[in-house]
Amino acid sequence: MAVLRKRYLAPAQYRQAQARQGLHGENGFDWGWSFRRGHSKIIAVHTNTVRGMSGSFLREIRPEALRQLRQARKVTVLTGAGMSAESGVPTFRDAQKGLWANYRPEDLATPAAFLARPDFVWRWYESRRRQLQRLQPNAGHQALAAWQLKNPKMTLITQNVDDLHERAGSTGVIHVHGTLNPVKCFDCGASYQLPPCSDEAENAAPDQEAEVPRCSRCKGLLRPGVVWFGEALPAAALHKAEQAATDCDLMLVVGTSGQVYPIASLPGMAHSAQVPVWIINPNASVLDDQASVLVRGTAAQVLPALFDRVS
Ligand code: OAD
Repeated sequence: MAVLRKRYLAPAQYRQAQARQGLHGENGFDWGWSFRRGHSKIIAVHTNTVRGMSGSFLREIRPEALRQLRQARKVTVLTGAGMSAESGVPTFRDAQKGLWANYRPEDLATPAAFLARPDFVWRWYESRRRQLQRLQPNAGHQALAAWQLKNPKMTLITQNVDDLHERAGSTGVIHVHGTLNPVKCFDCGASYQLPPCSDEAENAAPDQEAEVPRCSRCKGLLRPGVVWFGEALPAAALHKAEQAATDCDLMLVVGTSGQVYPIASLPGMAHSAQVPVWIINPNASVLDDQASVLVRGTAAQVLPALFDRVS
């Protein structure tokens, strides 16, 4: 089986995808352009979540689309950082703020970065873990967990390294990018569940000394249990995710920018297998041309409202 490593969409491909859809900038979406063009896939907009929108743009979800969701027996859900944004978890790029403002993801999320400065990278992940301890699942996580109870054939795939889906009650979550905790040994891969972390970890300055714990078996350095750029995704999780993307009646894609591969190819795989793809995101993304339905709004607002309509 080919080993698929985590990587960003190449800048040239990203610009091409943006140009195809009339997107501008990072998350830039030119509303005027889109509506002039009559973007027929946008079926609903939560106006209070989209900057510069007024109520007149609110569109009702079409009954035939709702029927599609109501009748789907096997739903696959793919979530990204936007899913946890309303819980207060910064998206991967937002996380480079405050004390860590001057560091790029590439400086923190690669095996090379860890080997060069293990204590520095460890501290950054500890600050994220500490922050997560204080946060709670949002209404979107809860709506998905409740929907799964009624639809046991639902498969939930997440790129998020937090445990908010589980804390909301979801089961069998496929963590394709690993998790913050448990951590593992860099050398032998032994897994360790860390106890809750201290307050100091969150506020530690990047240059403050901190010792990285070591493996009790081989004395190797412990590292976060996440998949870093350039690393292979866990094979079993990736296999299940790919199967779930094509073997379903409908795919819901929530809060992902579609820039990190190989997971960003799952909506395209579903689309090629004639599976309707619904995208829920307050912003446009390079995945939009694979969607049959676009809902412009946030996870915590759209998911409860959507499931309410089809229950
Ligand atoms: P990104 O940070 O690239 O994208 C977040 C997406 O969420 C953007 O498209 C936003 O428009 C959208 N968004 C923001 N707020 C939202 C909300 N409240 N509701 C719904 N959507 C919202 O995150 P990912 O696409 O998940 O890996 O990035 C993939 C991977 O990149 C992550 O798993 C991360 C990083 O490498 C790790 O941390 C291991």
